[in-house]
Amino acid sequence: MKTENKTWFKSHSHSWIVIITALILAIIFINKLAQYKIFSSILVGLIVSHSLILLIATFGGWLLLPEKIIRKMKKQKPTTEYDFGWSSKWVNGFGFASIIVLLLAIYAYFSLAANPFIQLLTFSILLLLAINFFIGNILAKASKKKDGIILPYIDLFKAGRENVLDVGCGSGRTTISLAKIGSDFKIVAFDRFDASYIDDGGKSLLKNNIELAGITDRVSIVHGDITATAFNENYFDAAVSSYMFDHLGENKLAALQEMNRVLKPGGRFMMIILVRGYTAFSIANVLSLAIAPRKAWRQLFIQSGLKLVDEGTINFGAYFLLEKPLI
Ligand SMILES: C[S@@+](CC[C@H](N)C(=O)[O-])C[C@H]1O[C@@H](n2cnc3c(N)ncnc32)[C@H](O)[C@@H]1O
Repeated sequence: MKTENKTWFKSHSHSWIVIITALILAIIFINKLAQYKIFSSILVGLIVSHSLILLIATFGGWLLLPEKIIRKMKKQKPTTEYDFGWSSKWVNGFGFASIIVLLLAIYAYFSLAANPFIQLLTFSILLLLAINFFIGNILAKASKKKDGIILPYIDLFKAGRENVLDVGCGSGRTTISLAKIGSDFKIVAFDRFDASYIDDGGKSLLKNNIELAGITDRVSIVHGDITATAFNENYFDAAVSSYMFDHLGENKLAALQEMNRVLKPGGRFMMIILVRGYTAFSIANVLSLAIAPRKAWRQLFIQSGLKLVDEGTINFGAYFLLEKPLI
């Protein structure tokens, strides 16, 4: 069984490589090639930015906020509204990082005044990074929308609407918005429930949220990994998934093939993901280059046997409407 941590590590592992390579090169430049100060400054900028992003991604919550205490305090209050469990580390961590990097930029501006070129370069890199983190903070806050998520349900139910799958449902944002479009179908909320970035992996939040939405009798919660499920072939009329397939690292194709297997012929799958582009860059800077572009996804769809019916942009991400071809 593959674990989330292994996939996470692999999909972010290039950062470690960038940091170590940049560090070695920076030491060489600083010691042996002192005349190329500009390169050492760029390398130091890369080291600082990648280290900060990794620090937030890995330890942010524990270093920046006593998150467990916050959640305990929250749990003492009656939960009368949806809680989709975005950890404080993601929302506030970006904000803290933005302030710290901005202060570093100001410090660099004044301390490097002797060399105007290096001063401008370092200041610009750090300022750009501070802006990145600030935008990340705004987007993370926007994702905490109380009433779920907006999905483009364009012609989703071509093969019927009895049995619908929400893949990687997490704490149920998509499940609830899906349920709102009609009361005549059942939903399978499927997840591994082991994500470190959703409080408690999402399962108890999901249970509470679907109860609040009054859809408990329509939703079955199923635990599993989408790369190999226990569902029968041709089982679902339709499926949705938001911000999950982009977390799959090298398992993307296996997961798409599994979707093709479990959907009925003519069954459609609405997938929302973050793709490489301006939005991703605004949050993750050069790290966003590790995110697959639309072109790579289109190639994977062909390989999986799913037909691309429609695509567009929504909720800071991309949507793709896919269909299992009729035999
Ligand atoms: C970013 S969350 C999105 C949750 C929800 N769809 C939403 O938009 O709020 C991604 C979810 O995918 C789940 N996930 C990641 N890899 C998975 C896999 N291989 N099989 C099933 N679920 C997985 C994680 O546990 C997590 O709950």
